[in-house]
Amino acid sequence: MTTQKVENIKPYESNSEKKVQIERMFDNIAGQYDFLNHFLTAGIDILWRKKAIQYIGLRKPQIILDMATGTGDFAFEALAIHPKKVIGVDLSQNMLNVGIEKSKQKNTTEQIEFVKGDSEALEYDTNYFDAITVGFGVRNFEHLENGLSELYRVLKPGGEIVILEPSFPKNPILRFLFTIHFRYITPFFGKLFAKDHSAYSYLPNSVAAFPEGQHFCDVLTQVGFKNTKFKSLTFGICTLFIGEK
Ligand SMILES: C[S@@+](CC[C@H](N)C(=O)[O-])C[C@H]1O[C@@H](n2cnc3c(N)ncnc32)[C@H](O)[C@@H]1O
Repeated sequence: MTTQKVENIKPYESNSEKKVQIERMFDNIAGQYDFLNHFLTAGIDILWRKKAIQYIGLRKPQIILDMATGTGDFAFEALAIHPKKVIGVDLSQNMLNVGIEKSKQKNTTEQIEFVKGDSEALEYDTNYFDAITVGFGVRNFEHLENGLSELYRVLKPGGEIVILEPSFPKNPILRFLFTIHFRYITPFFGKLFAKDHSAYSYLPNSVAAFPEGQHFCDVLTQVGFKNTKFKSLTFGICTLFIGEK
């Protein structure tokens, strides 16, 4: 097994904890997050979440945790597999507020609960959830292993976790184009629409520092998950990780 030290990239040039900075960053961009997310990925992010939900759907999970739920897109997508309840947990109250508004509009407030919380200290019993989803969230955890161990703890034996993360394509031409998009186009539009240049410069830096493919599967295995695997999506610009307790 290979292990890799995960560099802790922070959004702002300040000495405060990563967690505090992440909360502040997502509180700042919450109003523009959905638009920018779909715009910068040309809407493909929706397909990635659908694909991930298909995986956990096979075992018909009833209680699902959507960790780092943000504005709730993964939680809404999970309703396609008819669980009893989805609980979306996030550090940023402003992101959750957007999710709560969307839930009212979609008439899903009975099925989805939005809760402010930290991945490293979850207020749920051990073996509580049938499945866990995390969309573009684990990269932001202050202590990756602690956050993942906590997710492992609250997952039921036999339950599955699916994790989506952006990644750099292997093909050199695509990698070059993706790097241009990520390093220049994304921060430009981030600054223009979200008025937070740091937030969208943090994105490529944090992706570059995050363990890719098998390296991240090894981290999942280290914290206890088994049968870990990963699938490259859309020429490798996103990776779907799957693990089981
Ligand atoms: C890029 S957004 C992803 C939102 C959503 N999952 C999606 O698929 O669009 C990342 C979210 O992770 C949350 N987050 C980061 N670290 C967290 C932590 N330790 N505990 C809870 N939420 C966290 C942030 O507040 C932010 O809302």
